[in-house]
Amino acid sequence: MPRPAPADAREFSRRLRAWFRRNARELPWRDTRDAYRILVSELMLQQTQVSRVLDFYARFLERFPDLAAVAAARKSQVLAAWRGLGYYARARNLHKLARRVVREEPHVYGGALPATPAELRQLPGVGAYTAGAVTNFAYEKRAALVDTNVARVLRRCFAPHLRPKRARDVTRLWAIAEAVLPRTGRAAWAHNQALMELGALVCTARVARCSRCPVRSICTSADLESGLR
Ligand code: ADE
Repeated sequence: MPRPAPADAREFSRRLRAWFRRNARELPWRDTRDAYRILVSELMLQQTQVSRVLDFYARFLERFPDLAAVAAARKSQVLAAWRGLGYYARARNLHKLARRVVREEPHVYGGALPATPAELRQLPGVGAYTAGAVTNFAYEKRAALVDTNVARVLRRCFAPHLRPKRARDVTRLWAIAEAVLPRTGRAAWAHNQALMELGALVCTARVARCSRCPVRSICTSADLESGLR
């Protein structure tokens, strides 16, 4: 399977992070390394727009400041705090996860979220993306993460022939994400945040704003204004 050449990978990440330093939005989950707070943000952001999550995030964290508070609550109380966000399976899973980590298996977890994708994925409602996000965004450990936005950016840039609905192609996109990830956990944090930000602001599903893109010199799809592919 073709992978980005190491020199392209380095250049891609370097340009991406430089762009992020100048263009990043200030978002509350970028100011914390608390794994619980990162998890809540990622669960909320899975099916809900950033602007809408911002209305709920702070209030939810005030009511439930840590995993122990979620574990101590009834499921109905967690659901009540989630009301308005929809997709309530996310809240039910969060409650189940908190009960397991804090109450049922404290000997396994020590009351805290684990710090590797493999362990995180054992928990209710935590898929490959969320596991990577908590590992990297909270613990600053090197981990790739691919959601629909990241998949789109990587596909347009490095592999426009891939079809993100095909399982085999999703595996390839994860391999590309891994290949372009910088070496240290700290650099990977900025790199991953920058990928999400580029997907949200520049390389969007509706339109590719190639003239504003920091990696257009590397991108396979640049200047075709082929944002709709
Ligand atoms: N969507 C999911 N995670 C995000 C993050 N860390 N920043 C912006 N949008 C996101």
